[in-house]
Amino acid sequence: MADKTKDQENQMWGGRFSRGPAAIMEEINASIDIDKRLWREDIAGSKAHAAMLAGAGIISTDDAKTIIAGLDQIAGEIERGEFKFSAALEDIHMNIEARLKVIIGETAGRLHTARSRNDQVATDFRLWVRGACDELEQALKALMRALAKKAETHANFVMPGFTHLQIAQPITFGHHLLAYVEMFARDASRFADAQKRMNECPLGAAALAGTSFPIDRNATAQALGFDRPSANSLDAVSSRDFAIETLSAAAITGIHLSRLAEEIVFWTSSQFGFVRLSDAYSTGSSIMPQKRNPDAAELVRAKTGRIVAALNNLLIVMKGLPLAYSKDMQEDKAATFDAIDALALSLAAMTGMISDLTADHARMLSAAGEGYSTATDLADWLVRVLNIPFRDAHHITGAIVAIAENKNLALDELPLADMQRVEPRITQDIFDVLSATASAASRTSYGGAAPDNVKAQASRWLKELDREI
Ligand code: ARG
Repeated sequence: MADKTKDQENQMWGGRFSRGPAAIMEEINASIDIDKRLWREDIAGSKAHAAMLAGAGIISTDDAKTIIAGLDQIAGEIERGEFKFSAALEDIHMNIEARLKVIIGETAGRLHTARSRNDQVATDFRLWVRGACDELEQALKALMRALAKKAETHANFVMPGFTHLQIAQPITFGHHLLAYVEMFARDASRFADAQKRMNECPLGAAALAGTSFPIDRNATAQALGFDRPSANSLDAVSSRDFAIETLSAAAITGIHLSRLAEEIVFWTSSQFGFVRLSDAYSTGSSIMPQKRNPDAAELVRAKTGRIVAALNNLLIVMKGLPLAYSKDMQEDKAATFDAIDALALSLAAMTGMISDLTADHARMLSAAGEGYSTATDLADWLVRVLNIPFRDAHHITGAIVAIAENKNLALDELPLADMQRVEPRITQDIFDVLSATASAASRTSYGGAAPDNVKAQASRWLKELDREI
């Protein structure tokens, strides 16, 4: 691991150095393996910058044309996999600039006028995160559509609703799925929101203080699709809250996905047997031929760890950093790319699982009737028909449930006489409300689980999602 010699020194700043970096220095310093993913953004930023420099009379139009043609050539080389990335050139910015010099010669050196890698990387990364937000919003909408479609066709599949994972009250499968549509809609709006706030262009902030050249920051901002240039050069190069905000939206989405994944895991277990994943989204066991494992759901559940960790990672990297740029900030990209990749993959896998799954209504319905799940319906009947205050009705129902439990009978199997021993005014009509199906159908309050509500909400969502795409 010999140190570098003078002839291997960095061509971007070698002027005041007498030797190149130690091999370990290069290893810790280089980010090219990670940030080469920013090549499109880097080239777009450089093209916008070159055009602006010419427009402002800072470089000649001919030089700008030469630079832009060279950058286009590099884009082609990278696209075709011909470009040789070099760790000695540290990062994507210097890899591209060095190649530009080979292609167009000394003119390449004019591109970095009124610019620094600090505003360059801030711009590239913002562009990348902005694009990621777009993709995640679309992926969330695809998942919402899959859920809403399933909900529409399963609006009257009665299943148990749980609290504490104990059977609580009958609901419908469609209603359960639509709960996730609401969550994922908020997640999508969080990405859209983050995107609005991040859409300011750092380019032209230069190293930290701005520049003495008469640059046109509005021109570069506009060329790159930003709403405006960022107003403070220090903030422009020092802030990564755009990535942190995106990662926090990602972390929230991740936990939503993880909860759904967990439900799929137990819904598909033989104990529950509510749902069957398609062959395309199940895995077998190398030893137990009967197994159909929900690996994709488990992996979605687990990948949330990476996503939440990335948020934590960036929060910790950024805390306590003085203004303006510090090299610590180079670590922002590995975590962010990893989290966004994990989330995109999880969303796609979840969309596939949901679209393909089949539900077993008989199993769901029979579970929905277990655990005295219609006890609230009995109490509500006492309130509605006999005008008994709810607290008393709750007490009476408790006593009836105790009798049923003793006799090992479901509520709708308990003889009327037993109920009448607790409350003599109960009539045969009580049996209309004691089935799981009747119970679910009666939940017609706004936002409730009744099949009619589910149908209306599912079609509202499907219409809305069609309108947006
Ligand atoms: N590779 C660096 C990063 O990702 C680019 C900025 C380097 N700036 C500097 N002053 N060393 O943060």
